[in-house]
Amino acid sequence: MKIVLAYSGGLDTSVALHWLKRRYDAEIIAFCADIGQLESLETVKERALRTGASSVYLEPLTDRYLTDFALPALQAHARYENKYLLAAPLSRPLIAQRMVEIAHAEGADAVAHGATGKGNDQVRFYTSVTALDPRLRVLAPVIDWELTSREAEIAYATEHGIDVSVSKEKPYSIDTNIWGTSIECGELDDIHQPPPGHAWQLTADPKAAPDQAEQVTVGFEGGAPVSLNGDKLDLAELVSALTGIAARHGVGRVDIVESRVVGFKTRGIYEAPAATVLMAAHEELEAIILDRETLHYKQGLAHRYAELAYYGYWFSDLRRALDGFISTLQPQVTGEVTLELYKGTLSVVSRRSPNSRYSDSLATYEAGDTFDHQAGAGFAYVWSLPLRGSAR
Ligand code: ARG
Ligand code: SIN
Repeated sequence: MKIVLAYSGGLDTSVALHWLKRRYDAEIIAFCADIGQLESLETVKERALRTGASSVYLEPLTDRYLTDFALPALQAHARYENKYLLAAPLSRPLIAQRMVEIAHAEGADAVAHGATGKGNDQVRFYTSVTALDPRLRVLAPVIDWELTSREAEIAYATEHGIDVSVSKEKPYSIDTNIWGTSIECGELDDIHQPPPGHAWQLTADPKAAPDQAEQVTVGFEGGAPVSLNGDKLDLAELVSALTGIAARHGVGRVDIVESRVVGFKTRGIYEAPAATVLMAAHEELEAIILDRETLHYKQGLAHRYAELAYYGYWFSDLRRALDGFISTLQPQVTGEVTLELYKGTLSVVSRRSPNSRYSDSLATYEAGDTFDHQAGAGFAYVWSLPLRGSAR
């Protein structure tokens, strides 16, 4: 048997690699997606080989992640339960997609991941793999094995000589990529308390952020961010640079009690400094470019889009259809937005676009007003006819 394992180098997936190999007498192909996480990927590769992988795919996938997953979600203004910018859920279909591709190339029978049975991630891996190739088996060793605690996993690792030296006791469950960081478990499970200061991984405490506000200007072309403060950058460079700036000002923190796919609620904190700024800027631009009806209709789809991403329904007809609607509008979304960052807050300074519908002469209450006030009054009369009827 041949198994492609999504491998991160942490305790769970290291023990999983060894366990799968024994349990199924299988050849394990470790796949490690580089989507901008913090650890050293070369170390991860060595650890996979030392733990028993027959080969390792270590792939730079940041650009594919940003272009094919994060950007559509940005353009959709997808925020799960109004807050969460979905960095982890957007990465799962990409990881699943690559696992399926590798499984096909290697003639593997199964793919495997290290998520738990209580989580959203196991749902997302399963749904995404199934949507792409329902014949592939999806193995979830963490759900199947008898190691019921972290201590049991560490004991297994020690017994079998698995190197877990870098995975020292961490108080939180953390998942990071270029679009954002998620932090769960430990003290965060107490929803009566604010997150402890040391739980945040990326952003400055807004109270301790610089006293000097900082402005950033984001340029968009066809709905995609293309420049930062006038410098043309590719998306990954732009996101990295903007992460540094926004994190310094404590922008992009979220504390949420969220409704998991598997039915219960959990508390998590998220940091997505660049995504927060980019989404605010994109919204400002669409506000001046899209006509009212299209804008409102699109706003109604944002929740749905976020649900689909969160639920593991990325590879669904509905998500593709929503992207069809959204991408039809994006060619108009060109222009520049300047925002000010200050102690955790984000405010808009200016927005400009060659496709703006904003008209000074229609909006003004001063001299130069071109709006037909009589027509406005006639409109109010006609608009109220149904209400007049109801009142009678
Ligand atoms: N609860 C979040 C979500 O469902 C975070 C998932 C983070 N994953 C992890 N393996 N730590 O998107
Ligand atoms: C897990 O339980 O494996 C991580 C959290 C999640 O998937 O929601």
